[in-house]
Amino acid sequence: MEKVNQASKYLAKEISEPIDIAIILGSGLANLVNDMTVIKEIPFTNIPHFTASTVVGHESKLVYGTLLGKRVLALKGRFHYYEGHDIDQVVLPIRVLAKLKVKNLILTNACGGISDHLLPGTLMLIRDQISLFCPSPLRGANYDEFGPRFPDMTNIYHPELLAKAQEVATKLTIAVQTGVYGYFPGPMYETPAEIRAYELLGCDAVGMSTVPEAIVAKHAGMNILGLSLITNKAAGLGGNLSHDEVLMIAQQAETRTITFLKEIIKTVF
Ligand code: HPA
Repeated sequence: MEKVNQASKYLAKEISEPIDIAIILGSGLANLVNDMTVIKEIPFTNIPHFTASTVVGHESKLVYGTLLGKRVLALKGRFHYYEGHDIDQVVLPIRVLAKLKVKNLILTNACGGISDHLLPGTLMLIRDQISLFCPSPLRGANYDEFGPRFPDMTNIYHPELLAKAQEVATKLTIAVQTGVYGYFPGPMYETPAEIRAYELLGCDAVGMSTVPEAIVAKHAGMNILGLSLITNKAAGLGGNLSHDEVLMIAQQAETRTITFLKEIIKTVF
């Protein structure tokens, strides 16, 4: 908690105004900030206990500004468990957001599609998640100021926000699916046998982020919208997997994804 306090104290001094929406930008979405009127840009390395990301495609910067009339705090990059961080570090930015009284959170990511209709380039609003193999970020002393010891995880992803985001997609004629996101710790991609097991468990898609962040944000009472870009068919369902391909598909879909996110920011919150 000391780390959370130090980081949030630093940011509270830098960002004195309230934040309407925080957004974690996953692979290939960093350019959303190009459309923002930037008030403040802070490299992660300036924030106590934040570190630069080791992942290609993550810039490790926090950008605060306005976008379509909303005050937005965008995190270009996140901490992943596979980078060697412990789980408290993975969710540190979310706890800091909670300290800064952020109520609305958009989590984005790139992931592999398991369900037949989730082809590369498809956008998927996250309906629910399976946290199997994800160490619990709530293990240990409970932070009572954020939420209860045994928090309800029934509607992690806010059903109303999801429904409104679907309406936005319809209005913009952008095809969007909904689905269950399954967590895999990585950094290796899954095996085809693991994907068959995930499918049996009820996962529509699989990825290496988002889930611990969503647990902590839900514990803290945030309204969460989750958006995944399917960048590849999961292992055994398509060709071989590579991070370069993930980044390439994310880049190809970027304009559409950013158009969708901007309209969500404008009208949903
Ligand atoms: N699996 C896990 N993480 C991913 C994938 C995948 O297939 N694609 C992009 N991130």
